[in-house]
Amino acid sequence: MARVAILVGSLRQASITRKVALTLIELAPPGLDLAFVEVGDLPLYNEDLEATVPLAWARFREQMLGVDAVLFATPEYNRSVPGGLKNAIDVGSRPAGKSVFKGKPACVVSVSPGAMGGFGANHHVRQSLVFLDMPTLQQPEAYVGNAAALFDEAGKMINEGTRAFLGKILAAFADLIARSRQP
Ligand code: FNR
Repeated sequence: MARVAILVGSLRQASITRKVALTLIELAPPGLDLAFVEVGDLPLYNEDLEATVPLAWARFREQMLGVDAVLFATPEYNRSVPGGLKNAIDVGSRPAGKSVFKGKPACVVSVSPGAMGGFGANHHVRQSLVFLDMPTLQQPEAYVGNAAALFDEAGKMINEGTRAFLGKILAAFADLIARSRQP
């Protein structure tokens, strides 16, 4: 069983991105244990705080050390990564040499009510993953566009095509994780 942290780039309660992430949890294949790791309470990264590490940083780093892979589910803010998610990436990447991300397989799913599916955010996350040395799912790419229309009033994903597509993403990610575990 591979433990996968889901980091969500939206902090708001009614987040569409979180609904997509909940659908991913619902559709997870038997070999993947997907669970949220929250990023909303992390103080902004400031290297001076490493002297007395904030409790929220310590909690986040410990949770992330306990997972085998990371799924980034993010909306797009101004064609880029929301600050809260970028801050979590920064907090987890330090102190130098102690990154919680290094070598862990990653998957990026971007979500937008707009037509472009958060392409800019998706690729800005990917840019950080290069430096974090995370083998990242390349295909299929996951840009979930027109996302507000995919759910019913109870927040359930009702678009069968998108459900099937998210299933394919999870299968490909499970395969990437399995391959990266081979000696
Ligand atoms: C947005 N939104 C947005 N959408 C998009 O497709 N491209 C963008 O560049 C932006 N920029 C942007 C900036 C800021 C500060 C906000 C608050 C919003 C709209 C965004 O996609 C929409 O609010 C989503 O509903 C946000 O995702 P959650 O919170 O529903 O997951």
